[in-house]
Amino acid sequence: MLDTSPNRPDLPPEIARRRTFAIISHPDAGKTTLTEKFLLFGGAIQMAGQVRAKGEARRTRSDFMAMEKDRGISVSASAMSFDFREFRFNLVDTPGHSDFSEDTYRTLTAVDAAVMVIDGAKGVESQTRKLFEVCRLRDLPILTFCNKMDRESRDTFDIIDEIQENLAIDVTPASWPIGMGQDFLGCYDMLRDRLELMDRADRNVVAESIKIEGLNDPALAEHVPDHLLEQLREEVEMARELLPRLDPQAVLDGTMTPIWFGSAINSFGVKELMDGIAGYGPQPQIQSAEPRQILPEEPKVAGFVFKVQANMDPKHRDRVAFLRLASGHFKRGMKLTHVRSKKPMAISNPVLFLAADRELAEEAWAGDIIGIPNHGQLRIGDTLTEGEALRVTGIPSFAPELLQGCRAGDPLKAKHLEKALMQFAEEGAAKVFKPNIGSGFIVGVVGALQFEVLASRIELEYGLPVRFEPTQFTSARWASGPKDKVEAFVNANKQQIAHDHDGDVVYLTRLQWDIDRVVRDYPDVHLTATKEMM
Ligand code: G4P
Repeated sequence: MLDTSPNRPDLPPEIARRRTFAIISHPDAGKTTLTEKFLLFGGAIQMAGQVRAKGEARRTRSDFMAMEKDRGISVSASAMSFDFREFRFNLVDTPGHSDFSEDTYRTLTAVDAAVMVIDGAKGVESQTRKLFEVCRLRDLPILTFCNKMDRESRDTFDIIDEIQENLAIDVTPASWPIGMGQDFLGCYDMLRDRLELMDRADRNVVAESIKIEGLNDPALAEHVPDHLLEQLREEVEMARELLPRLDPQAVLDGTMTPIWFGSAINSFGVKELMDGIAGYGPQPQIQSAEPRQILPEEPKVAGFVFKVQANMDPKHRDRVAFLRLASGHFKRGMKLTHVRSKKPMAISNPVLFLAADRELAEEAWAGDIIGIPNHGQLRIGDTLTEGEALRVTGIPSFAPELLQGCRAGDPLKAKHLEKALMQFAEEGAAKVFKPNIGSGFIVGVVGALQFEVLASRIELEYGLPVRFEPTQFTSARWASGPKDKVEAFVNANKQQIAHDHDGDVVYLTRLQWDIDRVVRDYPDVHLTATKEMM
């Protein structure tokens, strides 16, 4: 195994072997392909890449659902667990569509590390940069995979420079590509002095690994043609001189990213990356919470909901809340306290998303993600504990930056539309406001493409064509304060008042001037851009 020491020596072995991470990338860089190969090497599927969903459908949150249907394998759209060597990997999906949503931010609150996939020809693209910035906010460790090396790609030093400069992070090569495009042979493993050769004949075959004694080993010449060998020696020498050596602590601190080169579609470089996640990726980390932090090794269970998903099973409209376990050893049937309502909840049918099979979770440990089917009691940001009143912090809720009106194509279906929108509001996919006056709804999102995603989901999941249209309002503020003062405010501003899915009062504004006026005229009414997620 790799020469790394555990990042937190006190963890029980079951927790220490867990690696919980997400993949961040720009669309088309190869996230889906890499996920398939993870599952393949994790023993979860027999053969990857045989059937692929084509076109736009693949770009939405149905990525994994499409895989599920096409291949008859059972994977969830949100979290997958699989074993690799002695490790348990939990891969949490970041939404696939090319727009930004709160969902994406929140997913990244549930992981301990991210794998950044970039296309060797394109380098750091816009979506990657945005997601990287989110990881940076949390100092998440990042491991980089430079994909599609079987195609013409950029010079290796250029790629590394671009990451260093664009993302302001140290980059250390964990492998070095030999040749590129048609000539791509494989990689020199910089960490273990091995030669990894790609098998072009069979995409699902793991690369041949040849142990050598450094770059002067005569055995190299048996596998690498002269001109490539000379180039390899030169480049590796330069890389060793110019680029920082791998520093496991800097990786854990999020200031250095090791980069592996490979070709996901050819299964090449993927195992080395997985070894890297196992060896250099963080173990389950300490969770920030109020009034105190939660340590993964604490014997009592605590966890938080970072995602709610409805309609996973079209046959019934249950929701599944995804709970990241922050501590302890969970066993099926446990009674946990739902901290927000202070009510006990028996968790009798939790689901563990083992990629091979979606199955009942008999047990789970800190670091794992379990799905809890429920009828809407569990909300994003909720904390579950064995009794202690802890509240996990750091789960963001943003004020919607874009507002649009929403109507059903068929006016008789307004009730259905309300149901659909309320459900998306609970999932956290959008903010939904019902204005006091008039019909229809105002929907608020963080990124423009979310409107399209919502429209297609409402049509797909509820059979309901909808129209989004411009509205006079530009932003929304939650209003709170003494009951009589809020009532007076509401009565005097009926045209601009709405209620959100919890029934809380929302003030829809047209201009900053509106807000300034309220602040002046109603000193007891408090307007806020975000609502605490609890
Ligand atoms: P995404 O989830 O990040 O959006 O990317 P995805 O894995 O769907 O890959 C995007 C395209 O890149 C796919 O081609 C995929 O086959 C291809 N690809 C992935 N990894 C590699 C690689 O290592 N080398 C090469 N040459 N191509 C790769 P597509 O034409 O869009 O789809 P398909 O027809 O191949 O399914």
